[in-house]
Amino acid sequence: MARILLIYSTTDGHTREICERLQKVMEQQGHELTLMSIADGPQIDLEPFDKIVLGASIRYGKHSKMVYEFIRKNEQLLAGKPNAFFSVNVVARKPEKNQPETNPYLQKFLRQISWRPDELAVFAGKIDYPRYGFWDRQMIRLIMWMTKGPTEPDAVVDFTDWNQVDAFGRRLSRLR
Ligand SMILES: Cc1cc2nc3c(=O)[nH]c(=O)nc-3n(C[C@H](O)[C@H](O)[C@H](O)COP(=O)(O)O)c2cc1C
Repeated sequence: MARILLIYSTTDGHTREICERLQKVMEQQGHELTLMSIADGPQIDLEPFDKIVLGASIRYGKHSKMVYEFIRKNEQLLAGKPNAFFSVNVVARKPEKNQPETNPYLQKFLRQISWRPDELAVFAGKIDYPRYGFWDRQMIRLIMWMTKGPTEPDAVVDFTDWNQVDAFGRRLSRLR
């Protein structure tokens, strides 16, 4: 049994939902899971945990500044324990961009940080127009129109492949 910490960086809650699913998978395999929001601060105490997993969504091309701060602050501790990172973005709905090696956001992110996670994943996110403010909704609809995604103003589309999330959970369970 390992004590596993899942830290999420989310704006609309989807990355948290993915973490909750990972939690379920790993609890079924006998591990003890703790979920924390990165918004709880870069001071999250990693010491009591055996494995650390960080998941973050993309907004206008970037992961949150808090993600970079957290990594900078905890680089040594992270390197000393089995660890993983996953990114959530809607570009990953395209089959040619849904792997860590082929997802442009994850590749760019890895060039910006010196942490080398033991495991990596990319998950396609969710579009939830009714939830967005006016300008965000218009911007995302425009981007979706340009990339052949859903544009109806009341569309809610979950692109996440939940089997892929389950498989990642099992990989994290085995990670040593
Ligand atoms: C305002 C806004 C900007 C976004 N920008 C991007 C983007 O630049 N590239 C992308 O692939 N997805 C983008 N997305 C899609 C999000 O990554 C996706 O909705 C994800 O599921 C959000 O996860 P969260 O709820 O955990 O924040 C954007 C979504 C919103 C609402």
